[in-house]
Amino acid sequence: MAPHLSSEDRASGPRHVAIIMDGNGRWAQMRGRPRILGHHAGAKRVREIVEACPDLGVKYLTIFAFSTENWRRTQSEVAGLMSLFRRYIQREAQDLLQRGVRVRFIGDRVKLDARLVTLMDDLELLTSHNDRVHLTIALNYGGRDEVTRAARRLAYEIEMGRLTHKDVDAETLSKFLDTHVLPDPDLVIRTSGEARISNFLLWQSAYAEYEFIDTLWPDFNDAEFARIVKSYAARDRRFGGVKAKA
Ligand code: IPE
Ligand code: IPE
Ligand code: MG
Repeated sequence: MAPHLSSEDRASGPRHVAIIMDGNGRWAQMRGRPRILGHHAGAKRVREIVEACPDLGVKYLTIFAFSTENWRRTQSEVAGLMSLFRRYIQREAQDLLQRGVRVRFIGDRVKLDARLVTLMDDLELLTSHNDRVHLTIALNYGGRDEVTRAARRLAYEIEMGRLTHKDVDAETLSKFLDTHVLPDPDLVIRTSGEARISNFLLWQSAYAEYEFIDTLWPDFNDAEFARIVKSYAARDRRFGGVKAKA
């Protein structure tokens, strides 16, 4: 069980946490099992972390499930992951609905299998009235790809005469990102000991706090999640300014 946070901790805690769920393959390999088994074990961890959010004051949780670079893996791993995503949505949809979770997907859907895209669209619609936790799943997501797609759409609006080059500022560009309805992440956690961001939420994480932990994703639990969220409250975010006097 995760330790509870005081109301003071909750108020100063992160509203939006993003997680790079890494280490599934190594978790399986350490057990002499195929990598896909690690992905299945990893998918099972998501529910507990989502459930921990309301008590921790985390309103938005964004998880990195598949990157635009993950297509470089073997055909069998990619196919296994795509089938896992389909099964995950089918299996979890009712539970997510009942638990008040609003699900959104970010990333480029064009390259994804039509059956998967239909399941994603349906789950977004099904949970669109929920507001307890906002879960965003990054699937075929890459930060550079997202900014590039946004720039292309912006250019199109200019070409159509609906905007001019003078309208292009950070706020307008943000509106064309997949995350346009989400606040920026306050805290980004990466499991498995790698200290890199691997093209995750590049634009949005400009001032996020980072936490890199050694735990492999299938071993991550609500207690460790609560510990990290709690330690965030002690950080001094300055956003380029100077520390405010108490
Ligand atoms: C993260 O685990 C899940 C995905 C990228 C889909 P990995 O599959 O990257 O696991 P490692 O890093 O090889 O251990
Ligand atoms: C990042 O992990 C992507 C996801 C967790 C979905 P990777 O395992 O793909 O990242 P690299 O290759 O180690 O940078
Ligand atoms: Mg990895």
